[in-house]
Amino acid sequence: MQKVKIFDTTLRDGEQSAGVNLNKFEKLEIAKQLERLNVDIIEAGFPAASPGDLASVKEIARTIKEASVTGLARAVISDIDAAWEALKEGAEPRLHTFIATSPIHRQYKLKQSKEQVIETAVNTVKYAASKFAIVQWSAEDACRTELPFLAEIVEQVIQAGARVINIPDTVGYITPEEYGAVFKYLYEHVPSIGKVELSTHCHDDLGLAVANSLSAVQHGARQVEGTINGIGERAGNTSLEELAVALHIRKEHFQAETRLNLQEISRTSSLVSKLTGMAVPANKAVVGRNAFAHESGIHQDGVLKEKTTYEIISPELVGYQNNSLVLGKHSGRHAFRNRLNELGLAVPEEDIKKLFAIFKDMADRKKEMTDEDLVALVLEEQLAGDNNFYELRSIQVQYGTNQIPTATVTLTGADNEHVEEAATGSGSIEALYNTLEKCVDEPINLLDYRIQSVGAGRDALAQVYVKMRYAGQETSGRGLAQDVLEASAKAYLNAVNRVLYMKESSTAVVNQ
Ligand code: KIV
Ligand code: ZN
Repeated sequence: MQKVKIFDTTLRDGEQSAGVNLNKFEKLEIAKQLERLNVDIIEAGFPAASPGDLASVKEIARTIKEASVTGLARAVISDIDAAWEALKEGAEPRLHTFIATSPIHRQYKLKQSKEQVIETAVNTVKYAASKFAIVQWSAEDACRTELPFLAEIVEQVIQAGARVINIPDTVGYITPEEYGAVFKYLYEHVPSIGKVELSTHCHDDLGLAVANSLSAVQHGARQVEGTINGIGERAGNTSLEELAVALHIRKEHFQAETRLNLQEISRTSSLVSKLTGMAVPANKAVVGRNAFAHESGIHQDGVLKEKTTYEIISPELVGYQNNSLVLGKHSGRHAFRNRLNELGLAVPEEDIKKLFAIFKDMADRKKEMTDEDLVALVLEEQLAGDNNFYELRSIQVQYGTNQIPTATVTLTGADNEHVEEAATGSGSIEALYNTLEKCVDEPINLLDYRIQSVGAGRDALAQVYVKMRYAGQETSGRGLAQDVLEASAKAYLNAVNRVLYMKESSTAVVNQ
């Protein structure tokens, strides 16, 4: 069996998904879960992009011990320096640098000749190799690059010190046969190819990312890049959970294996979905809600007689369990703490008291608290709860079929001042959001609003996601509460607080 390394770029390419913006705490939580999933490499971000990005990558590099942490850099010395600053304290500092190689990118984006592109790539790889133990080099838009030129530049960057060569299908254009042929060509035409590992990185514009990555593995790729739930630029990247399960279920065919802990897949998928606000389509392979549901009578009959008639993957393989434990208002702090531990939620002892009080309050109003509720509660309080500039104190909304909806909101502001406003709207949410807009003093454009129940039942918790433009910046937020209006208000303030926090932390870094 060939060993295939998994390079997770959920926090870099995945975070480039439209409308996703994760804060430092959320990124760290995802990185810790990726470590539990046992990925080999975590691409934690693009340190030169912003001081916030640099700080997150640094924190992740310091924390993660069981995976190698990397960061992206353009073929620019200052990007490599920023990445070094972020990664130098990591267990195995590794850089991922890239330059575009295709004629379209050379002519229109870089405005550089082939020779200039090679020179820039070689100089920056040499510089990177003087700092980092491992340098990975990517040929952006490799799949639309002339093969002889691709082979030539790959040879040159290997000689300059690159240890991993990544061949991205940046625009999701190639087919599995063609992609396999690119790897074959490189093996045959790059003299130093034996000194490096080849890596695949595919985008899903034609829905071929996983198939293309598998073809690359069959043609000698020893590292696969992708994201959890396949999130990423445009149509996204290779779904790592799909790829890993395909290699596992069809191991006789592929003769290759990853070291992923497949049982952590469902938990990782649901964490990424919750924190990014990107819902997993119900019919998505491996992690969709319907992936293991048998609906038609013929299928149900078959599965009851013998599971394997219609089931090639067992839900347990990827960590789905039917025995979700239920806690209630009589559960004690000990049971609560134990369950959080079992769910992999590492909550510091000093925070247990506060969380337990919130749990009790919710359990008083809601008959049963399921695992899903606990995860939602902890993520809400631990990751979105700190650094709040505006804190919700109370809301009151009046609605009646023959009345003008009216909301009154009380907040505490940044300097602990008391803010109270009231406004009307054509519906309850509009009245509430008009009122909140008055409270936060800046015009807000609401770009998206979504509401979802956590689990089933009439008393299920409400999870609201919003996307909005505030203070010239696109931001997103989420809010959890028993009541949909309260969850809506929390999501709104969470989005506003993110912008204010980002502004404050970048001023703090600039002033250092
Ligand atoms: O898709 C791409 O080409 C990339 C590179 C930066 C590796 O994400
Ligand atoms: Zn990409």
